[in-house]
Amino acid sequence: MNTPHTQDILAAIADEVGADQITVDADALARHTDDWSGFPGETPKALARPRTVADVASIVRLCHEADQPLAVQGGRTGLAGGASTRRHEIALSLDRLNGVEWVRDGAMQVFAGTSIASAQDAAEAAGHSLGIDFGARGTATIGGAIATNAGGLRVIETGMTRAQILGLEVVLADGRVLSELTPMVKVNSGFDLKHLFVGSEGALGIITRAVLALSPLRAGLATAAIALHRADDALPVLTAARRAFGPDLAAFEAMWPDYVTTMSARTPFDFPLRAPLCLIIEVRAATDEGARTRMEEFLEESAHKGLVADAVLAASLDQARTLWALRDEGPAAYGTAFAAIVPFDVSVPSVHLHEAVAGLARVAEAFPGTHPLTYGHIGDQNLHFVVGLDAPDDGLKRAIEAGVYDVVARLDGAVSAEHGIGQSKKAYLPLTRGPVALSLMRDLKHMFDPKGILNRGRVVDIADA
Ligand code: LAC
Ligand code: ZN
Repeated sequence: MNTPHTQDILAAIADEVGADQITVDADALARHTDDWSGFPGETPKALARPRTVADVASIVRLCHEADQPLAVQGGRTGLAGGASTRRHEIALSLDRLNGVEWVRDGAMQVFAGTSIASAQDAAEAAGHSLGIDFGARGTATIGGAIATNAGGLRVIETGMTRAQILGLEVVLADGRVLSELTPMVKVNSGFDLKHLFVGSEGALGIITRAVLALSPLRAGLATAAIALHRADDALPVLTAARRAFGPDLAAFEAMWPDYVTTMSARTPFDFPLRAPLCLIIEVRAATDEGARTRMEEFLEESAHKGLVADAVLAASLDQARTLWALRDEGPAAYGTAFAAIVPFDVSVPSVHLHEAVAGLARVAEAFPGTHPLTYGHIGDQNLHFVVGLDAPDDGLKRAIEAGVYDVVARLDGAVSAEHGIGQSKKAYLPLTRGPVALSLMRDLKHMFDPKGILNRGRVVDIADA
């Protein structure tokens, strides 16, 4: 088929699925141009908002026939520029494809555009818990979380998003629908294709529905803020918490003094402690009281061993929210706290944690007037390092990126631990993935999307070699 002009492809889509599913309205396009990464998007040529899986398939098939690139969008809360659009693209938003189809037998089936928060609520109403949770839960969608294999604050307890996936439905680049919406845990009947799409960042297919594994809801939770004498004690405390709480350890977050001091000064949030390293730890039990007793025992024992300098145990859910605020809500305030930020979500093996933190600090020190913030999910070897800037400066941003990724590559880390590669880290992917891995990624891209219409310029392109 010949490549149609813009008007032709938009008319073809409108003819096939209805004019209400494709728009060039300037306000609508402006709303769908950027994600939360700050990676600058360009106004796309149109916005498609399909209502059904069949509509997604029709739109994608038409775009495939017309060599029309698509930018796939969930809640656009991504932090790697994956959903920021380019001028020649049609933004394909899954926002109308939402809703929980069923919750039963420890699983739920949901449409991709369902928000994380509403999926969590539906699971909890049925006495279950969904193991996907992060700060953007109100806006982020299940499809986006799966496409990016999102992490977050609960990974230590539940694993990444990948660990919650039982079945998937995916619209392929040519419009075929791969429908494997199984609720079964054990399916060893040939290659497990779903895992190719989890974390593929929309470059291999468009996730439309998923069956998610749930765990029984345990109502009891205790939250503690902890001050350590020495940052070096973080890993011994983690080991002790794992030993004491086993699978009931529900969070283990760390904040270095730069994060606590700078963010307390520049946001409405505060933290009750100051120390060489502050932690937020959570443990689950059948009741809140039971969880608090377990936490109290752990804190006493750890203080006795000289590992914990000071601690605050939340007495209510409100107090727990207050303890979390600086960590959980702080990142959403970066836009007002700084003129620009250079964000990183890297990982390094635990043995290199302190060397990595020291190396990252040296990178920031080399550039006066920058504001480094160091924190992270250290139970998962995942460090967030964000450098606040007083003015946007692309040259400075690139210099900081080069310094940080050099530290990460030298310490056998990963350029992204949880946010993905998107557009913003694409150039850095070869620093921590080898040539064989990159060549296999390109082969997969070619097999699933030979014309490169899905999320072109994100993660991997056929022509990257
Ligand atoms: C966090 C997300 C943004 O940890 O990764 O806050
Ligand atoms: Zn994170």
